[in-house]
Amino acid sequence: MTYIPAANRYDRMIYNRCGRSGLKLPAISLGLWHNFGHDTPHATKQAICRTAFDHGITHFDLANNYGPPPGSAEEAFGEILKTDFRGLRDELIISSKAGYLMWDGPYGEWGSRKYLIASCDQSLKRMGLDYVDIFYSHRFDPDTPLEETMGALDHIVRSGRAQYIGISSYNSQRTREAVAILKDLGTPLLIHQPSYNILNRWVETDGLKDTLKELGVGSIAFVPLAQGILTSKYLNGIPAGSRATQGKSLDPAAVEKAIASVRRLNDMAAARGQTLAQMAIAWVLRNGGITSALIGASRPEQVIDCCGAIGNLDFTPEELAQIDSISEEKELNLWASSSEN
Ligand SMILES: NC(=O)c1ccc[n+]([C@@H]2O[C@H](COP(=O)([O-])OP(=O)(O)OC[C@H]3O[C@@H](n4cnc5c(N)ncnc54)[C@H](OP(=O)(O)O)[C@@H]3O)[C@@H](O)[C@H]2O)c1
Repeated sequence: MTYIPAANRYDRMIYNRCGRSGLKLPAISLGLWHNFGHDTPHATKQAICRTAFDHGITHFDLANNYGPPPGSAEEAFGEILKTDFRGLRDELIISSKAGYLMWDGPYGEWGSRKYLIASCDQSLKRMGLDYVDIFYSHRFDPDTPLEETMGALDHIVRSGRAQYIGISSYNSQRTREAVAILKDLGTPLLIHQPSYNILNRWVETDGLKDTLKELGVGSIAFVPLAQGILTSKYLNGIPAGSRATQGKSLDPAAVEKAIASVRRLNDMAAARGQTLAQMAIAWVLRNGGITSALIGASRPEQVIDCCGAIGNLDFTPEELAQIDSISEEKELNLWASSSEN
């Protein structure tokens, strides 16, 4: 059936300015890392994307390697662009990335100019796009001069393949260096994409969050729900079909380790009149410190629940202190190696 977007979609979302740029991003964005590969029916992918757009989510985040198999999430989203989102390109912010392994041989990963430009072209082809809105270096490459990686991103913008550029999981020092190089090149860094949630606070301890504010760079926090741990999903054990049962990125042991804290956080969320997912997203967005919370979803209902977070983004100092006391870090940062260099 032809999709007609909800007429009130822009009344349902908050749009935050991305750093000191002209671009605004929705407070909640949707990522297609999981649930957009060949293991998920196309109708589910369509329903998730439609629901997101109906709730004012204008930003869809992809990467070359999302699937499985790698590349298939971009292909699926390309289909959705042709059917459901036909005619809506100018209402969408679409991002992709390159950094992780995509093809055999020495040119299929990391941060060389050779890899980044070729991968960007492949992503555009898979999605059937002339350009992406944001193109990211997905991880810091310790063996390639940063000038080369940033030079490739600058070229990707100047050649019309992307409107803006971003970096992901770079630490505070590397981010400063990247910003300085890009300033010289004349293409400013729009955005940084770090992992960040109640149980994973490296952006605070590293100083990255303050650095981004100081430099006027926007921020989009991925895994705000700690891959589902910070929801009501695992309160009574690990349900069938959940991410922790799939043998992919979420180790069931990590869920078990966090569950006592999660139960207490769930009680706090209930006292605030929120679901735990909503409170976790609101915490990431608190005080306007982060431009957008980048969620994932396996069902449209999860998107709706998450969007409800914007109904209460305020925390009292007592609530923040209580969250701090409950939630010591749980070593959930799978992306730590990128920010250690
Ligand atoms: N830059 C990077 O290196 C990087 C790395 C990872 C991710 N990302 C980006 O961040 C995006 C989000 O990552 P993520 O999917 O791990 O984020 P997440 O939002 O922390 O976790 C999403 C998962 O939480 C569960 N969930 C979501 N809403 C729920 C709700 N309301 N109630 C109950 N459960 C709920 C679902 O799990 P079930 O599937 O079990 O239902 C869903 O798949 C990715 O798609 C990608 O775009 C970037």
